[in-house]
Amino acid sequence: MEKSDRGLFGTKIGVILATAGGAVGLGNVWRFPFVTGQNGGAAFILIYILCVLLLGLSVMLCEMIIGRHAHANTARAYTILANGKPWKWIGYLGVLTSALILGYYGVVSGWTLQYVFSSLTGHIHGTPEVFKDQFQSFISHPIEPILWLAALMGMAHLIIVRGVEEGIEKASKIMMPLLFILLIVLMCSSLMLPNAMKGVEFLFKPDFSKVTGKTFLEALGQAFFSLSIAMGCLCTYASYFSKDTRLTTSALQIAGLDTLVAILSGLVIFPAALSVGIQPDSGPSLIFITLPNVFEQAFGSVPVIEYIVSFSFYLLLTIAALTSFISIHEVSTSFLREELHIHRKNAARIVSCYGIILGALCSLSMGERNWLTLFGMNLFDFFDWFTANCCLPIGAFFTCLFIGWYVDRKIISDEMSNWGTIKAPHLHVFTFMVRFVCPVLIFIIFLHQFGVI
Ligand code: TRP
Repeated sequence: MEKSDRGLFGTKIGVILATAGGAVGLGNVWRFPFVTGQNGGAAFILIYILCVLLLGLSVMLCEMIIGRHAHANTARAYTILANGKPWKWIGYLGVLTSALILGYYGVVSGWTLQYVFSSLTGHIHGTPEVFKDQFQSFISHPIEPILWLAALMGMAHLIIVRGVEEGIEKASKIMMPLLFILLIVLMCSSLMLPNAMKGVEFLFKPDFSKVTGKTFLEALGQAFFSLSIAMGCLCTYASYFSKDTRLTTSALQIAGLDTLVAILSGLVIFPAALSVGIQPDSGPSLIFITLPNVFEQAFGSVPVIEYIVSFSFYLLLTIAALTSFISIHEVSTSFLREELHIHRKNAARIVSCYGIILGALCSLSMGERNWLTLFGMNLFDFFDWFTANCCLPIGAFFTCLFIGWYVDRKIISDEMSNWGTIKAPHLHVFTFMVRFVCPVLIFIIFLHQFGVI
């Protein structure tokens, strides 16, 4: 297959916005602020930024080198560099991981879309119990969440079939700026509430007494998850980078945007929640149960503002989820397209249908059908746990070893320096990190997640 008919991102800003769109997801909104609040505010943010700079960037660069060198889907990209050795299976693991995420991430993204609709029609009202019941009955409904999942899949599908430049890049150039505008509008509304400074203080006041060894592991785990490492997304998108895209600069910009969105989300959530005296939590219950209650109490006295705030917030979540969802869809689409030699449209159709079926099973597993379980968890929780705690560390660990110890150094220095046209003074630091530091730390996170340490 010719390289040129795979498609390339057309502009530098397109590269950054599309890839940052893949990284910026629900984790930035529903996990980062909470973990920060729990782990010493600004002290945690500092440690997090250090983890991103020292470790996250190194692993991102590994994936980008593999993707751009091969100009092929993730499985083939690893296979090309593996020269017939079993390293190629890491690439297949990446594709498998993304295919497993597709189902459950689609379900959650569908929920966000449903909440956009409910906020538009003014249905998000009530007491804390009402919000909880509404959410529980919605997610365990046998049909409704599946319809929203299908709607979301339809949107992602329409973007994917238009191709890399005309579809993914163009959509990202519209959606990402909109995401930032919404974030800023929401942050301003939140900061104007009485006592908003309590939230800002909670988020930014460094409390070093809360920093323990565990804090570092939390920061590292969150950095890897937030940057979408080891899911095939970065590798697939990097395969659409042109020869003059600067890998290190792009990785820095993408990681910077991802961190910025996470911090701004904290500035939306904490000031509003603490201004009405509600303790924020994390995960789906934060965004679908706690926050509707916060918005109702904080902005309820001016219904128009409450309406605008909740609509903007769910639209923001849907955009964050959709851009990540597209990146995960594209991993499987490019894999099928290149391995089965079929048209992009047909590959995307297969992936979309598969995603709806898997998502429907995940969604049903949260309802009455308790036969849909694996290892004692419902399908939804199982895929979430298995991909984040098992596939991600294993993929990242072997990717580092692959680049650090196996791949020809000439290929790495060529990719980092754009074939000698730009300086890459950090090459030695990078090599040291991926050979020794990253694998050891990833192994430690892995043990930590399983409670071994
Ligand atoms: N980075 C995403 C977030 O912050 C989470 C994520 C990791 C993800 N890997 C992914 C999302 C793959 C979609 C696809 O929420």
